[in-house]
Amino acid sequence: MIGSLTADVRSIDDAGDREDLLHKKMHLELVANTVALKDVVLPSKPWELIAVGAENRLTTGVPGNHVIVYRGELRAAPSVDAKVHKAHKVVVKLATRARSFEALIREGELYAGPLAEMSNRAVPSCYGVFRVTNRTVVDDENDCSFGCLILADLGEPVESFAKADEMFQIRLVNVLVELHHKMHMTHGQVYPVNVFDKNGWPFLVDFSRAKLNHQCKFLLERDALKEFGLDVKPKFEDLPCKELYKVTEAVNGWRPSSFICYNLAFDVEFLESPLDIMDKAPPEFTAEDAFEDAHEAIIKYYNKWMPATGKGKAHADALEENRVSWLKEFKAERARASRG
Ligand SMILES: Nc1ncnc2c1ncn2[C@@H]1O[C@H](COP(=O)(O)OP(=O)(O)OP(=O)(O)O)[C@@H](O)[C@H]1O
Ligand SMILES: [Mg+2]
Repeated sequence: MIGSLTADVRSIDDAGDREDLLHKKMHLELVANTVALKDVVLPSKPWELIAVGAENRLTTGVPGNHVIVYRGELRAAPSVDAKVHKAHKVVVKLATRARSFEALIREGELYAGPLAEMSNRAVPSCYGVFRVTNRTVVDDENDCSFGCLILADLGEPVESFAKADEMFQIRLVNVLVELHHKMHMTHGQVYPVNVFDKNGWPFLVDFSRAKLNHQCKFLLERDALKEFGLDVKPKFEDLPCKELYKVTEAVNGWRPSSFICYNLAFDVEFLESPLDIMDKAPPEFTAEDAFEDAHEAIIKYYNKWMPATGKGKAHADALEENRVSWLKEFKAERARASRG
């Protein structure tokens, strides 16, 4: 554990090109109960935090949150034999206000508390929250020196959930199920910018809006995840947990419960009964058009959402073979219906 650190703190203008050194050798003291370092070996102190500067800035901060995120490195101070100690690549979440520093402490306590068993597996290692003890400027918003949360650097976040690899998508849902059901926690901002892919495994950051005491009502059968993407999307009322429902939807964990034909929405049950689809065709559709559009919609749905089943091809083949007789059957039905 790193008890205390020294760091140079700089301020940067909004364009990120002017940088002033505000504090040299700022003293940072560890806040209790904010460290979660599983399988991370730290050699002895003292340590330094290096390279917190404009070129390493990750965010300019959400307006009003008074938090700026940088890349940096933790290195053993030169007084320690620096050559034998590898630098740790870190991300430094810096609080520029006393209030935002309180929020960082809470986040650190989550990493060290309920999230500790996910440390280095589904959330980054947390080196701790550090309070600046030798502040010289008080209440200057450019001061950036109330303190910081230091996490292992996870690299770049994923670009999209929908385009991610299927195994990654399944694991992401699993990690959230674990967070909800075991830690009784919601994350609150499960967006691609807060999710990382480490060799196929999802990692989450930014627990600033996490909530505790979540009683999750997203109760999937364990096996349901094996059916990933095959089950028809359930109604929200049947799995009423906003976060898990939304994420499962975003990773295409379910196939849609309806499809479009003639600009109308049809329940997936209609996939099995083309004549019932055609029956709903608006009157301006000729029999031929109604017939072709219905079969096209069925084949398209099967090919897009159930490619592994081969149902799309089977339907297309059957259509080729039976087009004449099926169309005749439909026309006869339509004539019967119009008679009475
Ligand atoms: N450990 C990390 N490794 C790599 N990138 C990170 C890490 N932590 C944060 N980031 C990146 O920086 C972005 C901003 O960090 P974060 O979301 O924690 O702060 P914020 O949104 O500015 O503040 P807050 O949400 O607490 O008000 C994240 O969305 C993520 O892309
Ligand atoms: Mg954020």
